[in-house]
Amino acid sequence: MSLNMTSSNIKLRDETFKQLRDIIYEKSGIFIPDNKKYFLENKLIRRIQEKNFNSFEDYLYLIRYNSNGNELSSLFDLVTTNETFFFREPLQFDILFDFIMPEISRGKGNNNFKIWSAACSTGEEPYTIVLIKTEKKPDMKLDVYASDISEGVINAAKAGIYSSYSVRNIPETYLRKYFKQNGQGFELDQNIKNSVRFLNINLNDEKKMRSMYDFDVIFCRNVLIYFDDKAKQKVVSLLYNSLRPGGYLITGSTESLHNVTRAFKPVVINKAIVYRRT
Ligand SMILES: C[S@@+](CC[C@H](N)C(=O)[O-])C[C@H]1O[C@@H](n2cnc3c(N)ncnc32)[C@H](O)[C@@H]1O
Repeated sequence: MSLNMTSSNIKLRDETFKQLRDIIYEKSGIFIPDNKKYFLENKLIRRIQEKNFNSFEDYLYLIRYNSNGNELSSLFDLVTTNETFFFREPLQFDILFDFIMPEISRGKGNNNFKIWSAACSTGEEPYTIVLIKTEKKPDMKLDVYASDISEGVINAAKAGIYSSYSVRNIPETYLRKYFKQNGQGFELDQNIKNSVRFLNINLNDEKKMRSMYDFDVIFCRNVLIYFDDKAKQKVVSLLYNSLRPGGYLITGSTESLHNVTRAFKPVVINKAIVYRRT
């Protein structure tokens, strides 16, 4: 039977949609509103066919009672939006190196930093930090951690091979020095790849989040938009705990914490807002 004929026979009932949506929300904080039912249906239909299931209800059963959680991980891979690229919002990287790091360095009396790219997708964000450090601050000691809920994107990040879309904002000098173009795309230099520790962390998982502490700076960009207010508040308070006093949280430039928390001090640098743990 063709793919289209099979998929047209299987429909996502409203009740099943709500149950699947609630599980996704409860586990990850990602909220899929009623008017995005088609999004979930389209994302899951292929998975249902791969599994040779006859209905979304079969899939729901698997998610509920699949004891080792593997299918939940595949579900996160399907419903997450992984758009990212190198040197995204470059002003924030300038602020990191030109304002935040010097300030933290003065406070600590050394040039060692621990940085976390939380929700790193395929790795462009943490690798951008390491590229700038390698090029501009070779003597700085930087520990870079990067994490995501999706195992699929973490594997892609570790492989470090990128499309022309992903590298389009990289300054020419960096591209020539740190990438090799081959049949598959632009392959990142091995030393840069080795400088980032990748982890699978759900920002909504308190236990795992407690294992991340003492960070000077956390990048959590372009992910809070997928959470509702309650989930945002929870995640932001866990990120607060992961920072050392005086450390900074950097969100996407369109993601304000104004209505989420008053725990951080908003600091305006070059018209951009970053958040300082007091
Ligand atoms: C749009 S990408 C942002 C990537 C990068 N931070 C940037 O700004 O370019 C959002 C990422 O958030 C991840 N994500 C979504 N929910 C998450 C959660 N609860 N915990 C950890 N990562 C999550 C997705 O898998 C996806 O890779």
